[in-house]
Amino acid sequence: MFASTLSLALALVPFVSAAVIDVQVGASGLTYSPEAIGANVGDQVVFHFHAKNHTVTQSSFADPCGKLDGGINSGFMPVAANQTDNLPTFTVQVKDTKPIWIYCAQAARTPASHCGAGMVFAINCGADGAPNSFTNFKKSALAVGASLAAAASASATPSSGAYGGGYGGGYGGGSAAPAATDSASAAWTTAAYGGVTIPAAPQATPVTAAVTVGTETWTTTYGSYPGSPDPTPASSTGNVIKVVVGGTGILAFDPPRVDAKPRDTIVFEFHQKNHTVTQSSFDDPCRKLNANGTTGFDSGFMPFSDTSAPFPTFNFTVTDTAPVWAYCRQQLPSSHCGAGMVFAINSDESSGRNFAAFQNVAKALNGTAVAANAPAPTTTTAASAAAAVKVGPISLTLFAAALVGSLVL
Ligand SMILES: *[C@@H]1O[C@H](CO)[C@@H](O)[C@H](O)[C@H]1NC(C)=O
Ligand SMILES: *[C@@H]1O[C@H](CO)[C@@H](O)[C@H](O)[C@H]1NC(C)=O
Ligand SMILES: *[C@@H]1O[C@H](CO)[C@@H](O)[C@H](O)[C@H]1NC(C)=O
Ligand SMILES: *[C@@H]1O[C@H](CO)[C@@H](O)[C@H](O)[C@H]1NC(C)=O
Ligand SMILES: *[C@@H]1O[C@H](CO)[C@@H](O)[C@H](O)[C@H]1NC(C)=O
Ligand SMILES: *[C@@H]1O[C@H](CO)[C@@H](O)[C@H](O)[C@H]1NC(C)=O
Repeated sequence: MFASTLSLALALVPFVSAAVIDVQVGASGLTYSPEAIGANVGDQVVFHFHAKNHTVTQSSFADPCGKLDGGINSGFMPVAANQTDNLPTFTVQVKDTKPIWIYCAQAARTPASHCGAGMVFAINCGADGAPNSFTNFKKSALAVGASLAAAASASATPSSGAYGGGYGGGYGGGSAAPAATDSASAAWTTAAYGGVTIPAAPQATPVTAAVTVGTETWTTTYGSYPGSPDPTPASSTGNVIKVVVGGTGILAFDPPRVDAKPRDTIVFEFHQKNHTVTQSSFDDPCRKLNANGTTGFDSGFMPFSDTSAPFPTFNFTVTDTAPVWAYCRQQLPSSHCGAGMVFAINSDESSGRNFAAFQNVAKALNGTAVAANAPAPTTTTAASAAAAVKVGPISLTLFAAALVGSLVL
């Protein structure tokens, strides 16, 4: 038995000597220490649980404080205040180089949420400055905490109807109005299908403003909400912003998101092979927007081969400051949207509904993670990039032996 475990471990990581990375959970307040690590395939991340009652639970970038179906989960690890050694551990084996997002599920969806207080952790996240950086992940966890606190204080006052209406209004964002009325879940909603939890759409405030550009003045009405840009265009004809769609071996919009003012024109230039730009919604990234009388724009298929010229274009004129979400609806040979081929105008990068979150919803609903959203993944291996095992003294010994073995190699 010992020998077979050893050779299995060696077979899994034939040429790499795996590292063991220790992470302290709750050693000083509501933190993981370190907060973010890089790990190679085969590495073991060992979480040591300090006093109190924390978890190591996998979430997603889009929903930092929401449990990922079938993801890693240590369960609650209560540790007495006077216990300082023989701390319980939980080990995660890194199976690939994809980011793994982790939070503490204690007091989830309440104002006391550990995650909402910033108790999050990441393996192989994007670098600082990248959309999926640890800083952005933690920021959106803190935003969750802030909205849970706000929701709780709103429902503590007599008029708790603040979340009643207003979602899904005519700004193209909301086909999924939150059904929940309890304060803790009011800040969350579920994506169109597949059970992915996403931050709810912010409420738009209609604003009517006089805009002056050069000698011209006009009145504009637009939906303003946190993060909305100013509605004043650069000139009365607006700017022209070029976006390249596709290219040889490329399933992406370049750039993938733009900031634009009303009257700006986005010129989509279609390269190889056969793409569309089609408006969708944050809640349902890979289906054409068609909600409550609002039908999204659609370029139709724009095939381009190496021999045809020039590149076909499709123009979209920005009329509002609200975010516009779009995707490529090519499904042959597989969903381009599910591969992350999505695009946004004026996404609020400081909110949970930023571009990276939108792209994650697209991948979760139409991409490789779709299978994992199918019913009943009860083991920890289904959706996640890593398998998790509880490590007792015996398997720890075996692992140490395997390590020695691989060093001998
Ligand atoms: C740990 O936290 C969970 C969730 O709040 C709770 O159900 C459980 O009773 C706690 N365990 C201990 C020993 O405090
Ligand atoms: C911790 O405190 C409890 C109750 O006060 C006691 O029963 C237990 O022996 C203590 N454990 C240690 C490791 O000191
Ligand atoms: C459609 O809009 C009407 C009028 O604004 C509203 O009463 C209704 O609830 C909306 N329906 C959906 C599905 O959003
Ligand atoms: C482009 O893709 C669409 C949808 O898959 C298909 O119907 C159409 O025939 C394709 N056009 C070319 C020229 O490949
Ligand atoms: C889109 O706008 C650009 C620049 O104004 C123009 O050159 C191009 O012909 C337009 N494309 C279409 C399909 O109207
Ligand atoms: C995404 O999945 C939905 C639900 O299965 C489907 O209706 C839609 O056509 C898919 N879109 C793409 C672009 O794959």
